[in-house]
Amino acid sequence: MRKIIIVGNWKMNKTVAESVELAQKIVIGCERHKDVTVVIAPTYLALAKVSEVVKGTTVKLAAQDVHWSDSGAFTGKISADMLRDIGVEYVIVGHSEQRAHFSETNASVNMKVQQLLSYKMTPIICIGETLSERNNGNLEEILAAQIFGAYKGIAPSNAFRTVIAYEPIWAIGTGNTASNEEAQHAHQLVRKLLVKRFGVIVANSICIQYGGSMKPENAYGLLTQKDVDGGLIGAAALSVEGFLGIVSLAVQIGTEVRSEP
Ligand code: PGA
Repeated sequence: MRKIIIVGNWKMNKTVAESVELAQKIVIGCERHKDVTVVIAPTYLALAKVSEVVKGTTVKLAAQDVHWSDSGAFTGKISADMLRDIGVEYVIVGHSEQRAHFSETNASVNMKVQQLLSYKMTPIICIGETLSERNNGNLEEILAAQIFGAYKGIAPSNAFRTVIAYEPIWAIGTGNTASNEEAQHAHQLVRKLLVKRFGVIVANSICIQYGGSMKPENAYGLLTQKDVDGGLIGAAALSVEGFLGIVSLAVQIGTEVRSEP
């Protein structure tokens, strides 16, 4: 059974002190929430301090990116080893902002996924289409290229340890959330592509999060869709009320069995 996973992507927001304060409030709000996996992704700069706050609690730590090499002359980059060393368990890779502004490609996503899996960390692989790709009828083609690209050379036994975040680019930071039906349709497509790549058992075990203007007002409808197994949340994750509001809806939905595709 897939456990709902709620991840707060804080992007380039909050000082270290502000990050610690928000993390402390989230930890208190999630004390008894064992049926939902709750993860927060502060900036690199705040990770070490926030790690001290979440240590030994139900809240897990994510980084917003990673480099694919172990170490070396890569100015400005951070390795999986460094992240794991301070308690990071999850890493967001392939976010559309990385793809749009920092030359992330399906090939670089694949290298990052390989690196994270070799460090026994969990990649959160972001995929999603632009509005024109959707309107031109290219949704499946785009998702297939992103999925087959990200999982190139990955064994089924490792694919179990990954998470996918389906984030339609037209919904990120725009307030235009996908409707429940649009989200379910795309997630079902993602699941179908995973079945093609890894078979039914692995495909049914991989959590597929929805991302793109998720907030407490629309989270229940999205999270109760059969193939929506969580949320990757940007703007709403920057406030205690927004993030915990979504977490408590996820807890309410709990481990309700979402029937298999
Ligand atoms: P948003 O961001 O919730 O602000 O749309 C989601 C994301 O980019 O992961």
